[in-house]
Amino acid sequence: MNTLEFAQQCDRNDELSSFYHRFQHPDDLIYLDGNSLGKQPLETEAIIDELLKEQWGKNLIRSWNDHWLDLPKNVAAHIAEILKVKPSEVSVGESTSVNLYKLAHALVHSGKFQPQLITDSLNFPTDNYILEGIATQGDLAKVICVNHPSDLEADLECLKQTIRENPGVICLSLVSYKSAYLYPIKMLNKFAKDANSIIIWDLSHAVGAVNLDLKNTGTLAAIGCTYKYLNGGPGAPAFLYVDEGLIDELKSPVQGWFGHSNPFDFASEFKPAAGIDKFKAGTPQILSLAPLKAGLSLTLEASTKKIRAKSIATSSYLLDLVQSELVPLGFTIESPLEVEKRGSHITLSHQESWRICQCLQHPIANRPTIIVDFRPDRFIRIGITPLYTRFEDLWKTVERLKEIVSTEEYLRHDGKKPVVT
Ligand SMILES: Cc1ncc(COP(=O)(O)O)c(C=O)c1O
Repeated sequence: MNTLEFAQQCDRNDELSSFYHRFQHPDDLIYLDGNSLGKQPLETEAIIDELLKEQWGKNLIRSWNDHWLDLPKNVAAHIAEILKVKPSEVSVGESTSVNLYKLAHALVHSGKFQPQLITDSLNFPTDNYILEGIATQGDLAKVICVNHPSDLEADLECLKQTIRENPGVICLSLVSYKSAYLYPIKMLNKFAKDANSIIIWDLSHAVGAVNLDLKNTGTLAAIGCTYKYLNGGPGAPAFLYVDEGLIDELKSPVQGWFGHSNPFDFASEFKPAAGIDKFKAGTPQILSLAPLKAGLSLTLEASTKKIRAKSIATSSYLLDLVQSELVPLGFTIESPLEVEKRGSHITLSHQESWRICQCLQHPIANRPTIIVDFRPDRFIRIGITPLYTRFEDLWKTVERLKEIVSTEEYLRHDGKKPVVT
């Protein structure tokens, strides 16, 4: 198993292998960012070119009617298909943080749930900042944060006990950004419902990597980004999903003209749009919405079922290699070993994690540059994007990690860390 030939044979047997050729690949770079920014689909350039030269460059304002006003709806329909929900339940635009603000605020003030916000220690920091902000702006009790004993996985009994005692609006990241721990979404949605509560799922590290089925899992509310496994590009717009049975009962806290029932009447009084459009606020970000279509189309063409199968095959392969080659060298596995508890990145730690990441990114002669990411205080995240990550890339990465530690190559770097890692 531990040979380059075996890895290359796995790539030849991979049903999705042709998708590798639909992305840009810089020379001599193995890209395993885990996952803050996906690669660029080849089609992206042509979309942006057309947008700049023709739609904006020549057609100017007329492009709003010709192309742009319908764009958010078209893109939302693609995202809805990936989430397996109705197009009328998805709004696309702005950032994940802003969408969480709108959704959490709307739910906690809807009168349908106790006005209590709950999060946990595995959640992404921005989610917790947003919830705390909402709590300080109203008459709400302090946000309850369930502190799990480790970064590896959630203590579900403790989480359930907290919800039982403090029902309300809960926000969880379906795949945790540190360990890739994957929550049992269906069980928790049912539990929350029985406890008169609702969970807003942050799908940022799940969408495009996990085979989501929001209806089948009883999911009523979610948000997520599109620049990771959906390969939408830097700052690509985020999405917000609300089950149709709930939409009418919610009010967006941001009353902007694009969320008006008739924005181009320029009426003096705000009248919210019917349906999910009430969550829109300002002018859609056309320059980043248009190229997002390239990544979404690739995901739909490959199918999330096959994407998940490839993610499981590659991440299990990587874990086996780590166990046989890297654990004896002082690496620790910080992701769940069970596939059903894991998203699509593998997290390792080592006492020299930071300097090891520096060696991967600034290699000695004749070695590839390898991009993974470092997350404080000790985590090395290895992202697997099933559409373009090859078994061969993973094998080469493990070989490099072995070399860096066994030859003490990491001593060439100091411990100074830049702001953006
Ligand atoms: C799980 C999760 N939620 C939220 C965010 C923040 O998203 P945004 O910058 O779109 O607000 C990130 C960013 O990486 C994330 O990983």
